[in-house]
Amino acid sequence: MAEQVLPNHFKTPAKRIGWKSPANIALIKYWGKQPVQQPMNPSLSFVLNNSTVSMFVDFEDNSSNKPMLEVFSVNGQPNEPFRQRFSSYLQSIVPIMPFLRNISLRIESHSSFPHSAGIASSAAAFSALALCLCSMEEAILVKKMMPEDFLRKASNLSRLGSGSACRSLYPGMVMWGESSKIPDSSNDYALPLDNQRVHPSYLTLKDAILIASDQQKAVSSSQGHELMNNHPYRESRKAQAAANLGKLMIALAGGNHKTFFEVVEEEALTLHGLMMSSSPGYVLMKPNTLRILDEIRTFRNQSGLHLGFTMDAGPNVHLLYFESDRQTVKSFIESRIQPLCQEGRWIDDAMGTGPSILTQKP
Ligand code: PMV
Repeated sequence: MAEQVLPNHFKTPAKRIGWKSPANIALIKYWGKQPVQQPMNPSLSFVLNNSTVSMFVDFEDNSSNKPMLEVFSVNGQPNEPFRQRFSSYLQSIVPIMPFLRNISLRIESHSSFPHSAGIASSAAAFSALALCLCSMEEAILVKKMMPEDFLRKASNLSRLGSGSACRSLYPGMVMWGESSKIPDSSNDYALPLDNQRVHPSYLTLKDAILIASDQQKAVSSSQGHELMNNHPYRESRKAQAAANLGKLMIALAGGNHKTFFEVVEEEALTLHGLMMSSSPGYVLMKPNTLRILDEIRTFRNQSGLHLGFTMDAGPNVHLLYFESDRQTVKSFIESRIQPLCQEGRWIDDAMGTGPSILTQKP
């Protein structure tokens, strides 16, 4: 590829770009990959409102040959593991964003949730970084993209850093991965579901993140995805995910809450079942994870409310319910769930509206 020459206007002191981007929680789980960083099966999620990463990137032309990623801090502290991960990610995307060859970056990342909360920050962080990179490209090349192209490019770029990050770019329900049921779907980028596909009640979904344990996971998601390559249930999992996506889409469009929670819980339990039946098998749930699941099902049976759980690849439980039941659910959490949470901790979150550009320091 021809070397990219930066326009003269860019040879000036550092410029700053900032984006805030949310974490997302999957209802249909992405678990297992195919090259390059494409999903083994389609997935569907929604972004959170309060669990976000705000990222500021200072960039300038690099005539003095500094490292491409000169400084990287998380919540005001240097963070070497993240710096290395971001650095190799930036190197890997140079063929897509050749202007990176000529610049140096200083990145400040701030997350709204404590690292120890056990929420995966990589989706929020990589989507924020991809948005900053797309804004930088616009600034450097002095060329504005159409908003939908901008978001699609950011989705594609963030996928290369962390698969699930590509779903953090849009509000509402978002799917990623080729599906015969959704014409525009792709393994390269995510797609927001339009209003006709989502009953308005789902826009009032709340997510109470119940911290059963804040310990570092023994097996990372990357290792977990890899264990799906030779998994005995690989093919049946693909079929199940496709069928569950179909069922969930029908429930979402029609507002069928019973089916919605049945499918969502089946997906969460399957994810952990796949981990346990990997070779070697492993368990990320803790004793209190199971107690919490049991409490949620008992409460649902007793109260008759529409609510249910999901989990990501960790011990914590996401209790999903509707805004209209907020008071009853809050009392339930305080009386039955908080005693099972690490130091009584839980995060009151909800469906969010997607990323936003930042102009000020946080
Ligand atoms: O994006 P990764 O590589 O961190 O994988 C995320 C996998 C799950 O959170 C377990 C499921 C999902 O679809 O987000």
